[in-house]
Amino acid sequence: MAKHSKTANTVKTARIISVASQKGGVGKTATVTNMAVGLVSLGYKTAIIDMDAQGHIALSFGLKKNNLKKTIYDVLIAEATMKDIKQTAFGVDLYLSNNSLSDLGPKVTAHLNAKLFPAPKYLLKKAIAQIKTQYDYILIDTSPSNDMQTMNSLLASTDIIIPVLPEGLSIDGIYETIFLVKGIQEQGAKLNILGILPTMVQDHTNLHHVKLQELRRKFAESPDIKVFDTVIKRAIRHGLAQSDGEPDINKAPEYLSFVKEVLAIA
Ligand SMILES: Nc1ncnc2c1ncn2[C@@H]1O[C@H](COP(=O)(O)OP(=O)(O)OP(=O)(O)O)[C@@H](O)[C@H]1O
Ligand SMILES: [Mg+2]
Repeated sequence: MAKHSKTANTVKTARIISVASQKGGVGKTATVTNMAVGLVSLGYKTAIIDMDAQGHIALSFGLKKNNLKKTIYDVLIAEATMKDIKQTAFGVDLYLSNNSLSDLGPKVTAHLNAKLFPAPKYLLKKAIAQIKTQYDYILIDTSPSNDMQTMNSLLASTDIIIPVLPEGLSIDGIYETIFLVKGIQEQGAKLNILGILPTMVQDHTNLHHVKLQELRRKFAESPDIKVFDTVIKRAIRHGLAQSDGEPDINKAPEYLSFVKEVLAIA
């Protein structure tokens, strides 16, 4: 696929990338946040959509999730537009969420609402249609479960990145996620697996070293799934950047290398 242009005057069609894993706490939100500020630092017009009811993107950008008047939930149920909820921080346009998003499944699948939401899994795709000509990249942060939010995210995406900790249970999360993606592809969606990103790597430990090698060996045999060359190390500064709400790509150089690796293929 052609690389995205940074030229301001061309009509864009955003590459839409979900960062997803069925396992919790593997660095999905950290990856979305740092990728976004990395893309902005290279001149790409970038947005984030938070499809996790935990609302961690707001916190990662120093915003209060409980003060939001309208969120992506209101857009999905057609009570707001993307323009209504847009905020900008650190050069990234943000379409935020909070706990209200957990009502999505019950609301849009209720028998009573069947006429209002005839295609409940495609609500995000419809919402993104409002903005996709404005961006080079739209990144979607997802929750660690196979819920209505995640289905909407994957069905709206062109690509998926799967973060993984090189440890037993987290590695298992890759297979669950790939299984989910295959199901989505069978529904006719052209969802491309961009690759697997090792995160929170402590390569001085034997466990991570061995598991990372195993992972690379395993997927070297797979023609369509790559493990990125870049690995994100476990570092206190990543955790602090998130809790302080001040993303800074200069403090996350591995993520800048990662963005460059993604740009070379997307
Ligand atoms: N490379 C890293 N090194 C150290 N800490 C990290 C790193 N990446 C993320 N963290 C911290 O680890 C925790 C989990 O990361 P994060 O929230 O990005 O994971 P997640 O996959 O989005 O979790 P969830 O499934 O709950 O949404 C957070 O406290 C975060 O600040
Ligand atoms: Mg998260």
